[in-house]
Amino acid sequence: MRVLVIGSGGREHALCWKLKQSPEIEELYCAPGNGGIAEVASCVPIAPEDTHELAEFAAGLSMDLTVVGPELPLTLGIVDEFNKRGLTIFGPNRLGAELEGSKVFSKQFMLRNGIPTPGADLCESEDEARAACKKRGFPVVLKADGLAAGKGVAILKNGEDMEQALQGFFRDRKFGNAASKVLVEECVEGEEVSFMVLVDGARILPLASAKDYKRLGEGDTGPNTGGMGAHSPAVILDKETSHKVMTEVIAPAVAGMAREGREYRGVLYAGLMLTEQGLKVLEFNCRFGDPETQAILPRMETDLLPLLLQSARGKFTTPKIEWKKEAVACVVVASGGYPESYAKGLPVEGLEAAGGVEGVTVFHSGTKQEDGRLVTSGGRVFNVCARGATLAQALSRAYLAVKDINFENRVYRNDIGQSVLKRMHYA
Ligand code: GLY
Repeated sequence: MRVLVIGSGGREHALCWKLKQSPEIEELYCAPGNGGIAEVASCVPIAPEDTHELAEFAAGLSMDLTVVGPELPLTLGIVDEFNKRGLTIFGPNRLGAELEGSKVFSKQFMLRNGIPTPGADLCESEDEARAACKKRGFPVVLKADGLAAGKGVAILKNGEDMEQALQGFFRDRKFGNAASKVLVEECVEGEEVSFMVLVDGARILPLASAKDYKRLGEGDTGPNTGGMGAHSPAVILDKETSHKVMTEVIAPAVAGMAREGREYRGVLYAGLMLTEQGLKVLEFNCRFGDPETQAILPRMETDLLPLLLQSARGKFTTPKIEWKKEAVACVVVASGGYPESYAKGLPVEGLEAAGGVEGVTVFHSGTKQEDGRLVTSGGRVFNVCARGATLAQALSRAYLAVKDINFENRVYRNDIGQSVLKRMHYA
């Protein structure tokens, strides 16, 4: 089979790595890919948002399957474009992708389908948003309606935070039209967990649970990032709660989307908060999580390719996904200054030694080949993933490998998984 993966990050490297292991794969392409992906797939210089060009490329090669990594092409309707040409593509269509593309649609969808989620007010002006924040009281959450590269959510602790955020959202138009509507949302406390499933329009196959660490600093401090680490299993999600997520969140979401004429295929990702009042959905995403996918796929026993193909065709025939019993930990190595400004083009050393640590696979997020050597090309640079019989073993192997990787001003969190290990210890 000939398969195209769209995207250029660690998630897409993990997808390519896993797809390459399929006995059915003959040719694997990635658009645009990165320095690590180039080792397992042929990289094609087409940007993910160039949906027409991607469709032309896929049609020209009679691609058997295209797998979409990031949300932007999904919200732009890449699946509709491919389907129009009779090309098989994994992911939701434009109407389905609105679950992530519009926080307002998503919130209203959850409320009308009885899916537990924090309360929120829809505001269409700065004055409305200010009044809603004051009515709810601090802390409160401000969310841009549209896609904002993971930066469109602000937790406001006081009036000063509020004025600064309102200035950015409404007057400086930091997120352009994405913030012309906002949600002012109840701030809930608890443990965050990521829960992903594959969907074929009606049937649901759960993926292994994962927990990601979004804040830049240790102890969950500092700015939000695309994710500084992850592990699978999440550990803090017990069987009973997983069952609840399936029956109270995922099943009603899939059925609700079908009822509303938005039949959903692809990955459905629920970002959950486990609160003392029960579970709450903070957000839905319409694609694989990054870096959760890097922690989940090394645990998957089942061949990924047929699963994605069956979802894209609208009919699962695989009854269940099998998982290795072991844990996987993923530590992100980033370039100093991320998520704001950071240097690029920094030469990298020590990758071979890192890859030689038992159980370790290094997925690249932001690298490229330049003049015959590997250099950094993004804020998040590597995902150092390690398997282990326990989470503690996986983490210690991952950190051993992280120490081997070197480039100027690299940063990483030293405490990935520690809060969970502590909870296990005192449980
Ligand atoms: N790890 C969070 C996300 O993929 O959105």
